Formats: sequence, C-alpha cells, structure tokens
Amino acid sequence: MGYPHKPHPRETLVLSEHFGDSDARTYDGWVKRGGYRALEQALGMEPQAVIDEVKASGLRGRGGAGFPAGVKWDFMPKQKSKRHYLCCNADESEPGTFKDREIMRWTPHALIEGCAIAAHAIRAEVVYVYIRGEFTEAIAVMQQALDEAYAKGVLGRKALGSGTSIDMYIHRGAGAYICGEETALMNSIEGKRGNPRIRPPFPAAVGVFGMPTTINNVETLGSVPHIMTRGAEWYKSLSLSSPKSTGTKLMSVCGHVARPGNFEITMGFPMKDLIYDLCGGMSPGRTLKAVIPGGSSVPVLDREEAENCVLDYEGCVAAGTMLGSGGMIVFDDTADMVYQMMRIAKFYAHESCAQCTQCREGTAWTVRILQKILSGRGEMQDLDLLLDVGEMMTGKTICVLSDSCAAPVGSAVQKFRGEFEAYIKGARQPAVALV
Ligand SMILES: Cc1cc2nc3c(=O)[nH]c(=O)nc-3n(C[C@H](O)[C@H](O)[C@H](O)COP(=O)(O)O)c2cc1C
Repeated sequence: MGYPHKPHPRETLVLSEHFGDSDARTYDGWVKRGGYRALEQALGMEPQAVIDEVKASGLRGRGGAGFPAGVKWDFMPKQKSKRHYLCCNADESEPGTFKDREIMRWTPHALIEGCAIAAHAIRAEVVYVYIRGEFTEAIAVMQQALDEAYAKGVLGRKALGSGTSIDMYIHRGAGAYICGEETALMNSIEGKRGNPRIRPPFPAAVGVFGMPTTINNVETLGSVPHIMTRGAEWYKSLSLSSPKSTGTKLMSVCGHVARPGNFEITMGFPMKDLIYDLCGGMSPGRTLKAVIPGGSSVPVLDREEAENCVLDYEGCVAAGTMLGSGGMIVFDDTADMVYQMMRIAKFYAHESCAQCTQCREGTAWTVRILQKILSGRGEMQDLDLLLDVGEMMTGKTICVLSDSCAAPVGSAVQKFRGEFEAYIKGARQPAVALV
C-alpha cells in the first residue's frame, strides 16, 4: 500500500514525513525514527513546564476553531481533587477533511505519544481516542499500536518507567457527524445520545463523567512530540506569515484539481500555490471558480479571493472565511454552485441532532428552498428568505452545526447570485425534480 502521492518539494514534512512507510507504524520502527524520546523528555519535566512549552510554540487546535492548545491545557485544575481525562477527537466527519485518518493509519505511535505527553501535562490518567466508526483500518492500526505500547511499558501504571500513570482506550464512534463536537463526543463516550451540552460549565471543569477534561484534535496532539523534541522556537519559525499562526498544517485538498490529496504546508503558504503548484492546477481547459477552505462549514471564496488568500488563521479571516479543519474543496467553472450548496445543506440537515429549533428547522428549510430553486419553481424572494433563515441559524444554538450550514450557503447566494437567479428566471434547466 503506497501513499497516494510523492511529497512535493515545497511541502514541509513534519506530521506526514512517514506517511506511506509501513515500518513507521510499528513500535520498533517508530523508536528507530526517534519515537518516544519526546515522551521520555516530557515525563522528566513538571507538567506546567510542558504546558508552557506548548503555549510558547503557538500551537493552535487543528480541529476547526484554532484555539491555542497550551492555553486550553492551562484551564485544567492545578489542585487535583478528581480524576482528569483527555479525549482525542478522531471523529473526522467534516466533508472534505481526510488528514486525521492518515495520521492514525501511518503514524499511530506519534498520536499515542502526543496523547501521553498531553495527559502528563494536564495530569490525566485516562485518555479516550474517539475514532469515527467507519475508519476500520485506522482503528485496527491504532489498536495494534496501543497493544504494543502497553507491551513495551510506554503506557500503564508507570509510563516509560516514570511515576506517571497513563491509560489509553479507543472508543469507536457510530457514524454521527455531531459526535465530533466536543461535548457531544463526551456524551457519546458516556454511552448517551450524542447531543451537544450547554456551556458553561466548560469541559475543563465538568467534562466526561463529570470530571475535568481536555479535548484535542488528532493533528493538534500529533504535533506535540515534534514541539517537545525540536522546541517551541523551531515550531514558531515554521510560519511564513503571522506570529499567531505557527507550525505546519495538513491541508486535505479535494474536488476539481489535477492532484487531490493531503499536503503539509507551513502556515502562511499561499492558497494559489497550493492549488496551481502542489495540486497541479485545474483539469486541462478548466478554470478555478470557488474554494471552501475549511471543510464545508465555512464561507465560500470566489476565484479572486481564493487566489489572494494566505493559508493561516488570520489570512483566511482576512479573505472572509476560516481555515477550519483545512479540508479544501475546490470547484472549477463547471460546478453548479446552487446544486453544490443544496448537497452541503442536505448533509447538515441529515446530521443535525435536532436539539435546537434553529438548526433542526433551519437546515431542513434551507434544503427545501434550494431544491425549490433547483426545480425551476423558485421566486426572487426565496434568495432573501435563504439569507434570512441563515441569519436565524447563526450564533443562536448550543453548537455551531447550524452556523456551519448557513455560512457556505449565505456566502454562495451573495457571491454567485447570478447562478441562483438563472434558475429562478428559467434561464437554466431545472436540476432536480421537486416531488
Ligand atoms: C458539528 C461539529 C463537528 C465537529 N467535528 C470535529 C471532528 O470531527 N474533529 C475535531 O477534531 N473537531 C471537531 N469539531 C470541533 C470540536 O468541537 C473541538 O473544537 C475540537 O475537537 C477541539 O480540538 P482542538 O482544539 O485540538 O482543535 C466539531 C465541531 C462541531 C460543532
């Protein structure tokens, strides 16, 4: 099984250095490549010193929100009166995102090592790795690596012979996108329905089983061993732009590019170069129309915005969107933006947990209005209605699934209005039958 593409010379391989190398999956192979040195080093440090190093590195959460990892770890109680937990979010169900599964498939020990370092830092004796149920291969590879790590004394009562106790369990999800939301994930681990919880209380105070908990994404935790061995300064130096966005980012690129796949770039890399150079540009004769850069949950960029966008947290915000999970969906000039938005809205309507009215009703109505337009029965006022419904769905619910549906649809109505109007005016053939 070879990795889909040879690394491009302009990639910066940190997390993906050993993708495609099956020897790196084994304990011996990982140790040969310098593995578990970072954990040994961290276990010899005070937990606060580990937190300070991660804070200094500027590492931000790669699951979507970009919250600084070290700051989040620092929220955990310092006086330990209860059991502490770490949850590794490996649910990865965001459309267009396919990087966490590759970290688990190719470098399972890197993730175990990152989880163990984080557990030491936040004084957690138990780690749950919550993996999306459909990832059968990743689950098998991770379980094998976990068994090896226990057999070699990396985990357990005396992790690597230290005084720290770290136990790690794989929890298999059951295929619900909402279970990637951190509080729904904790409910799911507890065996409850995966509904998001109202905050406060925040997980660092009341998390899984009511205990202080930190939740981090796979890529976030996978970056930690590299920060420990090479240092915060090295990690910061990898940024091409803003000091607030440091390190490398795995970008999953899909859609109408010649070479889709995972590409590891330094923060601040131009989106234009990722599309036209690393991904080989569009198919012959085609031109770029639009990009959704952060998984499907963020505003769409038109061609000009995409070609001028810098890939880091601030650069994406400046372009009017978000870096999110780094799952980049690229559309060429053949894409029907109305149909694409209907497909995206249908996903969110299907995945809404239905707890909040704005989400349950808003996602379903968004699909219905888009289908009405696509069937040729739309009216001009439907466009205002779409924006109005989107407004009602933004910033008003327990979690941001609702906002995630409204953001791409609302931005597409604004930036590609002519395509919506063409269906309404009968200038375009109906694309779906309305029954
Ligand atoms: C509906 C929804 C789905 C989410 N799915 C994921 C996911 O699959 N993986 C993930 O890491 N974060 C996901 N998140 C974000 C998490 O709630 C949380 O912010 C993240 O796991 C924190 O880790 P980080 O700080 O390392 O990014 C999701 C959020 C929402 C609202």
